[in-house]
Amino acid sequence: MEGKTVCVIGAGTMGSGIAAHLANLGFRVHLLDLTEESVRAGLDRAARAKPPHFFLPETAKRIELGTIAEMGERVRESDWVCEAIVEKLDEKRRLFAALEEHLRADAMVSTNTSGLQISLLAEGRSESFRRRFLGTHFFNPPRYLKLLELIPTPETDPDVVAQVTEFLEDDVARRVVVAKDTPGFIANRFGMWAMIHAIHTAEKLGMSIEQVDAITGSFLGRPRSASFRLNDIVGLDIMQDIAQNLFERCPDDPERAVLKTPHSMAVLLDRGWIGDKAGQGYYRREGKDFLALDLKTLAYRDKQDVKFESLDALAKLPLGERVRAALDLRDEAGEFLREHLVPVLRYADTLKAEISHSVQDFDRVMRWGFAWEMGPFEMIDGIGPEKLGIGDGPFFRGPEMKDFSGVWVSKRLEPKFRRLDNYPLVARHEHFETRDLGDGVIALATTTKMGVYSPPAVREISTYLLEEQRPLVLTSIGKHFSAGFDLKFLLETSQAEGWDEILASLKELQDLGELLSRRKACAAVFGYTLGGGYEMAMACPVVAAHVDAMIALPESRVGLIPGGGGTARMRVRHQTHAKSLVHAARTLILGTMSTSADDARRLGWLRSSDVTVYHPDKLMTRARELALTAEPSPMEWRAIEGPVSGMLDQEFADLRSRDEITDHDLRIGHMIKMVFAKDTQWTLALEHERQEFIDLLKEGLTIARIQHMLDTGKPLRN
Ligand code: NAI
Repeated sequence: MEGKTVCVIGAGTMGSGIAAHLANLGFRVHLLDLTEESVRAGLDRAARAKPPHFFLPETAKRIELGTIAEMGERVRESDWVCEAIVEKLDEKRRLFAALEEHLRADAMVSTNTSGLQISLLAEGRSESFRRRFLGTHFFNPPRYLKLLELIPTPETDPDVVAQVTEFLEDDVARRVVVAKDTPGFIANRFGMWAMIHAIHTAEKLGMSIEQVDAITGSFLGRPRSASFRLNDIVGLDIMQDIAQNLFERCPDDPERAVLKTPHSMAVLLDRGWIGDKAGQGYYRREGKDFLALDLKTLAYRDKQDVKFESLDALAKLPLGERVRAALDLRDEAGEFLREHLVPVLRYADTLKAEISHSVQDFDRVMRWGFAWEMGPFEMIDGIGPEKLGIGDGPFFRGPEMKDFSGVWVSKRLEPKFRRLDNYPLVARHEHFETRDLGDGVIALATTTKMGVYSPPAVREISTYLLEEQRPLVLTSIGKHFSAGFDLKFLLETSQAEGWDEILASLKELQDLGELLSRRKACAAVFGYTLGGGYEMAMACPVVAAHVDAMIALPESRVGLIPGGGGTARMRVRHQTHAKSLVHAARTLILGTMSTSADDARRLGWLRSSDVTVYHPDKLMTRARELALTAEPSPMEWRAIEGPVSGMLDQEFADLRSRDEITDHDLRIGHMIKMVFAKDTQWTLALEHERQEFIDLLKEGLTIARIQHMLDTGKPLRN
């Protein structure tokens, strides 16, 4: 976001995370705190965060640090002042009073409070300030959680709300839900109540934390952190602060007793075992093992592997149906769901009109802020409202939803955020599906596990593409674009010495790449974008990469070189400079995975003409545009100037001497060199690539690496 300046005040967890996110997007960012030391410490924490807050580590240096006492000039320069200091009404009000005189008349001003009343924060400020003031409630960490609750006060100008929404969605990569200025807004009021309710229920039923986590994770369509892992991640101190604040501010809520600190949580807080920040909470990590808190003895013991066969038997059913069925189970899982989930869904139903503008908004908060697969109202419909005794349901009917007076109205449609599954399905094939993206563009999305390109998948896609000539978006339906080529096939076939079969499968993979490279095609990549999968993406004339895509050709980690055209393509991409080629060879031999699309560009995985998409929900719309304008360019093979062969040898020798690679890696390096420096034309390079791939596959060290990767998911350096 070149040209815009933001001043973030408060450099704690949230302020520094927000500053990092905005700097990533190209804003000029000032970050202020009480002292020079505290602001520096805040930024340093953000720079060390895992997973990383910054797309590129050096972006941290672009954030301009300062103190609140000397904020005048910086506030005057800013288009947006975003406050994120401690959660104290008086401190925040004092700050707004002090900054008002410096605020430009056209600047936006907001607070990141999670629990204070927004209109009280604006009290005493000028009319011009109050018209522009709103809550921008980010979620932690801002880089990774796209939800933003936007909270206007009755005095905020509706035009400001509209403009700010557009700005946050287009320039700040957020999904915005406008919430009411009620305690805790939507996410904390409902979400925190539900989190604490789960603890009370576990204590009441005498169930273990592992049992509860086994029920409330993927079975309910929620993240693996489920209940008690999530408590530790959020921090019991923060949970208690939010819950206490809600308790005090909601005297008329008949359900507020639930917000009282559960016994186990009080004991943990007392001992300072507040979760991950303290190294222990409901769980404690010991080396590789986890200990779990026994809710009865309140002492740690070994973590138990809990499995509910009753739930496993239902796991294949669609989410709503399986939960419906589970509510009838006579075992502990069924009892927990009746005692916990039913009240939680009923609470959402009672609260809905008080805290949200629609059931769609309410659901979105839980989907985007808590990563629930279904929001509470979708879940109520999925289970059946009558089974839960919820008279207002069902809430959705095709493109419509029920408003709070019971009238069917249309859901909010947002064409700029259309995701793959919002486009009409054309056909389901064995390994992929196709969707109609409009304007004659077709999406081909792999449906294989982790987007793996197996030989039959490659064959089926190739056959389809020979028939289908329309502009194309290549993508996947899963959480990842692709984990690569089928390693299991490689292992099993090489054990049976089926070298010809492997050679043929590599030829087919390379041919699919050729096919993609010669048409109007854009690869829309996200998540793991690796190996054979990435070779197909990089063959397309253009790649649209979600910024968090983890891109690499990591074949060296399984003892191979890219054999689907990737080695040869890297050579052609970097052929103009010997130095750039050496850099590419180094990235290949190390198999370095990018931590962001910006990083991938620097590593040489992405071309400068490839496009980074910062908004997770805009990947498909952008890829669709790019497919329409993509122009296949003819492959230009050029001789490389300079003593590249010697330079590569030198680079590999340096890596070996620093022990960054092994002798087997050196051998892989030699194979890369053959394609990079010795070949004289494209088709020869492809042939070499296949042959060298097979040669490496015949080696025990390579097979050991593949076996290890399949067994453990981790690379073996032998
Ligand atoms: P924090 O405690 O990590 O950081 C607060 C920062 O504000 C500190 O660096 C402190 O030095 C500074 N500060 C500036 N002026 C101050 C003053 N006058 N008095 C005291 N400290 C001052 O807090 P955190 O977690 O970053 O929260 C900041 C705001 O964001 C709060 O309003 C909180 O409710 C809200 N929030 C927090 C979330 C979280 O997950 N931690 C999530 C969403 C919102």
